[in-house]
Amino acid sequence: MSVTVRVPAKVNVQLAVGAARPDGFHDLANVFLAVSLFDEVTATAADELTVTCAGPDADQVPLDRTNLAARAAGILAERAKIAPAVHLHIAKSIPVAGGMAGGSADGAAALLACDALWGLDTPRAELLDICAELGSDVPFSLVGGAALGTGRGELLTPVEAGAFHWVFAVADGGLSTPAVFREFDRLTAGTRIPEPEASPALLAALASGDPDALAPALANGLQAAALSLRPALAKTLAAGTEAGALAALVSGSGPTTAFLVRDEEAAAKVAAALEASGTCRATRVAASPAPGATILPS
Ligand code: C5P
Repeated sequence: MSVTVRVPAKVNVQLAVGAARPDGFHDLANVFLAVSLFDEVTATAADELTVTCAGPDADQVPLDRTNLAARAAGILAERAKIAPAVHLHIAKSIPVAGGMAGGSADGAAALLACDALWGLDTPRAELLDICAELGSDVPFSLVGGAALGTGRGELLTPVEAGAFHWVFAVADGGLSTPAVFREFDRLTAGTRIPEPEASPALLAALASGDPDALAPALANGLQAAALSLRPALAKTLAAGTEAGALAALVSGSGPTTAFLVRDEEAAAKVAAALEASGTCRATRVAASPAPGATILPS
């Protein structure tokens, strides 16, 4: 018996970053948007907890207990006082260590898949608690759609979002999220960092579905830090803008870059120009919003 869950990637349309807290995390006003790039996690009854992964970047995915999918299964089993007797297979399509919450997505998907496989019927609020324990972005991977994340990003309020089209440029290699936050701390040392707040203009533009309104409102407070660690990303951003993207920004902590485009036709054009520019490893086209982690019919 097995259960497969499909789970989306995210882009942050606004990421306002506050000062480092005593626990090392940063308070955020993080407007998450789920996009139609999906991983699939299949949970199958097995003798012990194992993880496999397939996909173009599968070799970069850790298969030990540091994998959020394995951690999710472990935490759920411990709470239910059962053995984590499951094989988790990840069909990976979301860029790895790319700032699109791919690892978080697999954590949320594994949690939902194991909950169904083991017939636990864990209440949604408890699943969200486990997600928050797994990582700041994991609750949003479960919920999907569009949401404002406060606290360290784990406290979610759904927000309205019209339809938008995106191109993503995948960079060579990943960026470590803690390293990008540390670089943010270094770059902002000695400056006064305002309390992070969601931008009303951004939320209104998101709800309107008007890409011309959303383009100037997109903002990523981690972008300077990501560019400082990976200066070549500036060339990718410029190549997408020159090709006609309405806006370009680093996705989350990067190094994936995101390009807002008017429609599918513009997406194909911008993706082709980015591929030809030699400033990225690959491109992906997606639409938003996308649903959160969902059990697929067997
Ligand atoms: O919550 P998650 O495990 O995804 O966070 C990874 C790392 O990113 C944290 O250990 C911390 O260094 C950084 N982080 C942060 N503030 C946040 C979220 C993450 O500093 N709100």
